[in-house]
Amino acid sequence: MLWWRVFAGCACAGLACMAPHGWAGSTPSDPGAAERGRLALLQHSYLKAEWKIDAYRNAGKLWGNSAPDPEKDPEGYARAFALHYGLHPAPYPNEGLPMGLRWSQQPDGTKTGIQLDCMACHGGSIGGKSYVGLANTQVDYDLLFGDLFRAEGRRVPLLPFTINTARGTTNAGMMAVFLLSMRNPDLSRRRFPMLLGANLPELDAPPWWNLKHKKTMYYDGRTPAASVRANMQFLLGEKTREQFQALEPTFRDIQAYLMSLQPPEYPLAIVAARAERGKAVFEQTCVRCHGTYGARRSYPSKIVPLDVIGTDPARSLGLSDRAVEHYNATWFGEGHPVDTERVGYQAPPLDGIWASAPYLHNGSVPTLHALLKSSTRPSRFSRPPSTDFEHYDTRQVGWKFHELTDEEIAAMKSSTHQAHFLYDTSRFGLGNHGHTFGDKLSEDQRMDLIEYLKTL
Ligand code: HEC
Ligand code: HEC
Repeated sequence: MLWWRVFAGCACAGLACMAPHGWAGSTPSDPGAAERGRLALLQHSYLKAEWKIDAYRNAGKLWGNSAPDPEKDPEGYARAFALHYGLHPAPYPNEGLPMGLRWSQQPDGTKTGIQLDCMACHGGSIGGKSYVGLANTQVDYDLLFGDLFRAEGRRVPLLPFTINTARGTTNAGMMAVFLLSMRNPDLSRRRFPMLLGANLPELDAPPWWNLKHKKTMYYDGRTPAASVRANMQFLLGEKTREQFQALEPTFRDIQAYLMSLQPPEYPLAIVAARAERGKAVFEQTCVRCHGTYGARRSYPSKIVPLDVIGTDPARSLGLSDRAVEHYNATWFGEGHPVDTERVGYQAPPLDGIWASAPYLHNGSVPTLHALLKSSTRPSRFSRPPSTDFEHYDTRQVGWKFHELTDEEIAAMKSSTHQAHFLYDTSRFGLGNHGHTFGDKLSEDQRMDLIEYLKTL
């Protein structure tokens, strides 16, 4: 079974839609590239369908409560489906499906099945508005993936790693490494995986709108941000080397689209005097790593060593030398190899930071206030039931939380659906320590600083 196809993106009914508009290729100065990339990302599929149409319709029968009838009330069913698995309404035409799911179609429009795409992890919403590129901090990828198989009466494939224990985090790194382990350096297929020794944890996805500022990307900052091929790794379940080459111009356009995305502006009131004072605090304590904003913009693309940043080391340490060597020996590493030196984590640009809670690479800290006062971070909290403003804390900036009691946790664990709302910082890769740079501020300075962060 070609189960690895489901890891991503963009299903395609064969070669017919490989080059949807006769891509001519693009350069950063090519003004049409971002628009072509938008269409290529949001309107096309690049992988074959993993599941039949019925998998989508039948999933509701697995929920144990009465789901709306998918035939009689398709819109109600779609809404319930999205809420159940943590997907968000698509802000682009998606034929009744939420972001992250996509029908696979024949050239004549006949639906052949269903597939997941990039927006399952990179399409989010806040305050009732959806954004392509805002990370999906709600998705239960493990549950969605498993239920689509179950709904078809198929066995859920056994994976050699955990996709996620918490909602909104995914083990995209292990998916990519595993797919690459099934290929030789010339990208021919292997019968047995190469032993690459990587041990990566589940993570929150970074927002796409920051990509344009970065020299290097991914949380450890070891991959050149200019790499188009890095974004094609999820197609490794299916494509041949020749097909990868043919698709590269399309993915160059997709990258141009990702680089054209802008962060959403804070939609509520900001106290200007506070923000002004907060800017001064930011300049004193944060600029050296996170750069400056506004008219005189600078971003140092700084990768901070683990012993300085002190955040959960699993993601940084888990990328093995062997995995990097193998990646660099393939077509993916040509021209844009992954840095062989392991340092720590890249300090990200903070644009649109109000919208991208929870914080840190693993999403272990629910608010900016808790990030800037480490003693108040909860060790076990619940990911919010939705991203509506009723769950959003405008003072602390981020998702409302409380430290969960043992009883609350026991109740959550008794339901498969609720269990993944639990975020337990004692799990592998989910530690909430480190980044203590706000601890010494007075509460007044901290609140000023948070007000300033809303303006970015
Ligand atoms: C299963 C969830 C998932 C899917 C599907 C997915 N991504 Fe990601 N993506 C992530 C995670 C998690 C990271 C952070 C990885 C890391 O740094 O280890 C990431 C990182 C990235 C980055 C780096 C951003 C930065 O600023 O460092 C880009 C670019 C990206 N993804 C593009 C894509 C594209 C394009 C697709 C579809 C072909 C895609 N992703 C599909 C989860 C996903
Ligand atoms: C020594 C460098 C350094 C300093 C100083 C620093 N940071 Fe950071 N910051 C980082 C790094 C590195 C990360 C990513 C850590 C991780 O994800 O594990 C980060 C992450 C963050 C995040 C989370 C980003 C996200 O998308 O989840 C915020 C918010 C943040 N910093 C704000 C601040 C503020 C405000 C200050 C000043 C009080 C500050 N930082 C000072 C290096 C620094």
